[in-house]
Amino acid sequence: MFVQAQDLPWQQGYYGEGRADVEMKMLSIDEAGTDATTIIRYPAGWRRNDTEYLSCHEEFLVLDGALTINDQRYDKHTYGFLPAGFVRNRAASDDGAVLLTMFYDKPVVQSGEPPPGLFDPRLLVDYVNPLAMDWDPGLVDPQLSAGVAIKPLREDPYTKEVSFLYMSPPHRVPPGMAKPQWTHPMVEELYTIEGEYVWGDCGRMGPGGYAWWREDVYHGPAGTDTGYHLFVRTVNGPLVNHFDTEKKPFVWNPEFRPQLPDSVKVYAKPYTRPPNY
Ligand SMILES: [Fe+2]
Repeated sequence: MFVQAQDLPWQQGYYGEGRADVEMKMLSIDEAGTDATTIIRYPAGWRRNDTEYLSCHEEFLVLDGALTINDQRYDKHTYGFLPAGFVRNRAASDDGAVLLTMFYDKPVVQSGEPPPGLFDPRLLVDYVNPLAMDWDPGLVDPQLSAGVAIKPLREDPYTKEVSFLYMSPPHRVPPGMAKPQWTHPMVEELYTIEGEYVWGDCGRMGPGGYAWWREDVYHGPAGTDTGYHLFVRTVNGPLVNHFDTEKKPFVWNPEFRPQLPDSVKVYAKPYTRPPNY
């Protein structure tokens, strides 16, 4: 809570088996070394022509470029959730692609068809194109102030975990420059696609800002002068917001006070906005 992805190093290959020819930034990984959130960069000309599947669920949002899996082309800001055992007969990226990618176990690419029963079609979200959707303010918790809206990407039919895009218009200012902090009983993961999100307690997050907000840890108060566009995912349950009662003062330029594991903290730097003039 939080780091700018730009400050993290690329490494060759990802942490699983079978994609040694991509580059990866590790945003977060669980203590067992299994579930992780990464940025995967597919080089121009990347290609798979043989049938294969992954041992775990792979969820992604295209940050840049385009990737084609089977007959589906995924352009910038499109989304997919391909469950374990989803068959990829072919895949390619002619000009390269950068994907925010979540793995739900340590990913291992296997050749051929999956064993019966591995693939659960109820979990498949083949393709979502948010650019063809309207923002829905009715999906937002009414305790949050007006103006924000959601584009839903996925709800897990079993765990009710959700992934969605979340937007705020600019100039969402805490009334009287004070607001309560809040938290959630589940993990909330945030990736800033565009804009800036100001956390009174830990700093200003810019495009590329990434947070793995632990359960029951209070943060904020928060506001935005620029507006923002975030990818949000809940882990270990549906989205629930718990608001504190005590109002805390808010400032526009809080000091960067990251709360990060040591492996990430060494790279973390404050966000500095390039001038728009
Ligand atoms: Fe939240």
